[in-house]
Amino acid sequence: MPYSAKVIDHFIHPRNFGKIKNPDAVGEAGNPVCGDIMTIYLKIGKKKIGGNPREFIKDIKFETLGCAAAIATSSMVTELAKGKFLEDALKITRMQVADELGSLPPIKMHCSNLAAEALHKAIGEYRKRKG
Ligand code: FES
Repeated sequence: MPYSAKVIDHFIHPRNFGKIKNPDAVGEAGNPVCGDIMTIYLKIGKKKIGGNPREFIKDIKFETLGCAAAIATSSMVTELAKGKFLEDALKITRMQVADELGSLPPIKMHCSNLAAEALHKAIGEYRKRKG
């Protein structure tokens, strides 16, 4: 099964690729089988909703050293997470990332782990830092 047009598009033109200077959090995920690695950088903002401040992903960038599927899923996860409240971003799953890309070949499904995992780790690190 070949890659979908969306996977190829995100691989050739990755969204939010790069580093954030002075990030509020960093999350890293690696695939021990292939050795591929992904890093997510976050900047967190606050919005007042009903008088209560809520934290959201103000900016997000990624660096991925990996296959086409790993780069496309990294790019897609940043698009899905940008602007979301942290608790909503934590609900993003690998399946959702793969679905948004119009699915991945079955042997490439494991590559989608990296993106969601690195995002969840970055949010976890941010919360830990804040105590
Ligand atoms: Fe390593 Fe895709 S082959 S993440």
